[in-house]
Amino acid sequence: MTDTRNPVEDLAGDYDIFDPGYVTDPVPAWAELRGRCPIAHTERWGGSWLPTRYDDVQALAKMVPELSSANPGPIVVDVPEELRRPEREGYNGASPISADPPEQTWTRRALLPHFTPRAIAPQREFTKVLCNELIDGLIENGGCDGAVDYAQQIPPRVIAHKLGVSGDMVDDFIEWVRGVLELGLTRPELRVKYGDIIRDFFAAEVIDRRQNPRDDLITALCQTEVDGELLPDEVVIGMCNLQLVAGIDTTWSSIGSALWHFSTHEDDRRRMADADDDLWDTAIEELLRFYSPVTMARTVMEPVEIGGVCLGVGDKVLMNFPGANHDPEVFDYPDTVILDRQRNRHIAFGAGIHRCAGSNLARMEMEVSLRTWFERIPEFTLTDPGAVTWAGGQVRGPRTLPLAFG
Ligand code: HEM
Repeated sequence: MTDTRNPVEDLAGDYDIFDPGYVTDPVPAWAELRGRCPIAHTERWGGSWLPTRYDDVQALAKMVPELSSANPGPIVVDVPEELRRPEREGYNGASPISADPPEQTWTRRALLPHFTPRAIAPQREFTKVLCNELIDGLIENGGCDGAVDYAQQIPPRVIAHKLGVSGDMVDDFIEWVRGVLELGLTRPELRVKYGDIIRDFFAAEVIDRRQNPRDDLITALCQTEVDGELLPDEVVIGMCNLQLVAGIDTTWSSIGSALWHFSTHEDDRRRMADADDDLWDTAIEELLRFYSPVTMARTVMEPVEIGGVCLGVGDKVLMNFPGANHDPEVFDYPDTVILDRQRNRHIAFGAGIHRCAGSNLARMEMEVSLRTWFERIPEFTLTDPGAVTWAGGQVRGPRTLPLAFG
């Protein structure tokens, strides 16, 4: 791992995705790079390439098998040899996101039926009740931390509900997922520790569901057959793990970024307080575009020439979906939030074979949580801009967001 934490002097050859300025607002860096070095390189954090043009990110997302998503595919630091578990060889902890075809194809196919609009209908009602309960608990205080007290509370409960796991696990889920995706990004020992905790938790749940089937996602996955065979336990455990790591920080970050936006852009906030269904539809897509939270990684398996650079075997490529969504070649006024933007082909949910399997659930959670908030708390502002903190790296979003109501 190379990271000297020296100041970045030349973005094109030395960008740092953990630079505090980049984490807080990466838009200026992308604009600069797009103009002079659209696929930049750094040696920091194990070395990587960073594409910033929409067309390049789209093209890279479709390069299979030249680029691989298989383990270990974290965006920064690989797990060192001494921390790897020989007994876990062959356990793919997050299929299909961390798999290539053919495994990616059949695991994805097994998941998709559980995320259709119809399949997530029970979670819509659940989310509505949940958001109202959360607001009941904080509205009298005249303010709250919009990231911690509201946004963060929603996705883990919705995922627990879908999996069929007790809501009492929510604080653990938050700690585990942050351990893997936030703190663990630069500290592989934490990633391994929390990865093991999640794995052991779901291993016990799977044993339970095999004996006591219920009406929940874990049971449904336990009963799924591929080519006439039930999915093995290890595969079900990995797919359950993926529900946490793909479904919690991502959606929490999107809801938090939206609250940050409206608390700092009064005209847009006023507009949403009276919004009709059409405006809500376009606004959700625009917030997803502008504040896209997720950056993934791929490993180069065959040399690739693209955008004037040559990616070599073993190189890491950051799938900069957020940067692509600010490309002026594709979006008019890309660095402005236009709530009724009509043409919006954003790739916040990725592109190609790994495109987000949970996008219906994510959109529903964003819509219900924000609409419920606006119904109950149409007037709110950021109290202390200096107190806002952002997480960056694989999933970007606010982690502290002090708001006042009224
Ligand atoms: C706003 C919230 C979300 C965003 C922005 C988001 C974004 C993404 C992105 C960019 C990918 C592509 C990964 C890649 O190319 O390597 C992805 C994949 C995936 N997401 Fe999401 N996601 C969100 C919420 C969710 C939720 C709520 C779930 C389900 C619980 C979910 C489940 C998945 C799965 C299973 C994949 C892997 C699909 C595959 O590899 O075939 N996501 N997501």
